[in-house]
Amino acid sequence: MASIVVIDYGSQYTRLITRRLRELNVYSVIVAHTVSAKDLSDLGAAGVILSGGPRSVTAADSPGLPPGLLELGVPILAICYGMQLIAREAGGRVLARNEAGEAGGAGIASGAGRAGEYGKAALVDYGGTLFDGVEGEFVAWMSHGDSVVEAPSGFEVTATTESGLIAAMEHTGRGVYCLQFHPEVRHTPKGAVLLERFVETTGLPRDWTAENIVQEATANVRAAVGSQRVLLAISGGVDSSTLGLLLNRAIHDQLVAVFVDHGLLRLGEADEVERALRALGVDLHVVDAKERFLRALAGVSDPETKRKIIGGEFIKVFEEQARALGAGAEGIRFLAQGTLYPDVIESAGTAGAAVIKSHHNVGGLPADLGFELIEPFRNLFKDEVREVAEALGLPPHLRERHPFPGPGLAIRIIGEVTKERLELLARVDDVFVTALREFGLYLETWQALAVLTQVRSVGVMGDERSYGYLVALRAVTSVDGMTADWARLPHEFLATVSSRIVNAVPEVNRVVYDITSKPPGTIEWE
Ligand code: XMP
Repeated sequence: MASIVVIDYGSQYTRLITRRLRELNVYSVIVAHTVSAKDLSDLGAAGVILSGGPRSVTAADSPGLPPGLLELGVPILAICYGMQLIAREAGGRVLARNEAGEAGGAGIASGAGRAGEYGKAALVDYGGTLFDGVEGEFVAWMSHGDSVVEAPSGFEVTATTESGLIAAMEHTGRGVYCLQFHPEVRHTPKGAVLLERFVETTGLPRDWTAENIVQEATANVRAAVGSQRVLLAISGGVDSSTLGLLLNRAIHDQLVAVFVDHGLLRLGEADEVERALRALGVDLHVVDAKERFLRALAGVSDPETKRKIIGGEFIKVFEEQARALGAGAEGIRFLAQGTLYPDVIESAGTAGAAVIKSHHNVGGLPADLGFELIEPFRNLFKDEVREVAEALGLPPHLRERHPFPGPGLAIRIIGEVTKERLELLARVDDVFVTALREFGLYLETWQALAVLTQVRSVGVMGDERSYGYLVALRAVTSVDGMTADWARLPHEFLATVSSRIVNAVPEVNRVVYDITSKPPGTIEWE
């Protein structure tokens, strides 16, 4: 499939470039800088973007351009480190960060006494292909130590910063466009226009839409499995539910979907997911494993042990079902998984990502089942899966849910997990999440949860002294869960939730709100 290929030089923003392109309905993939020109052709590269990176192009062992890249004849957008590479390759002059003081003093044409720039910079005199249609002030996000101080011959400087540094240059004849700053970040507010202009130079159709993703995935799945059956484990989350819908559309009668209800989901959620999927035609085999998980967790307080037990038990239950349903080399040969693109990039790492290899994360399923993997979402980001879910009819309430950990409520109960504690926490959590939705705050938070602590404290309810549980509420804002900040929920909202919780769940007499960011805290408490 024709795409724009992003070559990764280690920038923290590489993934963002791909996302922005996909927001423009263009398919885009990331590869390592060790990619060959042939790989790029095989990937259907209609355009290539060179990412930024932490290295200096002036260092002896810094990564270079893939040999033959400039001869491929496809438009190239070079960002930050990428621009410096192009400048070096095409005969321009790059000033290294550590040369800046001296060389600047020696009259380098940059007009600046230093090479690097960090943070926001206003551009002056911008123009050229990429800036076509841009008007008014242009604020660019800079993060570079080295600078291009002389454009290579044939290149036209299309923007400079107030401090006189080259911010953009292009060679329209060769279709090479260079930006010293990052158009992909929100701190460059008009950056998306530049990416859009670049996409236009590639002539790629803007047809990466949910409908097309579904059609293509459907065709691929059909081609891959023929008339064979496919097994799918549904956990209740968005990814596996959506995958169930996709496979149901693609191979209806051949799909064997198993929903393991471990009893650790939110209040009513297992039923809700089951009803929604059935209503959309998915024939679910539901396994009620609630008692079994409780037995396995009895007497266990250590968080990591809880996780291991839950993961192991899930596999056991699933494996039993799979065998009963005829899995194995002679029976069901294919196993579908909701692996997403970020998992694929992460597991490939930058070094080996040139052509991204299949990674066999079967969630620890025993190898002797001999499955072949079907991963229709391995090219998708989470928000794209949500769009696919919408196209396939998953109700908004279910597709827009916050992330939820595999071990579920068990890692939000400090200490031993018992039936009573699970029920109690599910009720508290339900009050919190329902209120977030009611106040229009649900989609403004990345994740929200309640924790049942082991602390009990004295209170007064009615005229009676109480000795109840302390629950903690946590809500965070985040982009990817790697870092997070505590959500500044309005006091009025917190007051309402607190009073609703103690009224609805009398065993609780104290509610606290967690104001720890990540780091140092994690999102979950266990
Ligand atoms: P932490 O607590 O590490 O969580 O800040 C980051 C994100 O990952 C989720 N999480 C898990 N997801 N299995 C999962 O599927 C797990 O064991 C697990 N632990 C944490 C967490 O909910 C948050 O979204």
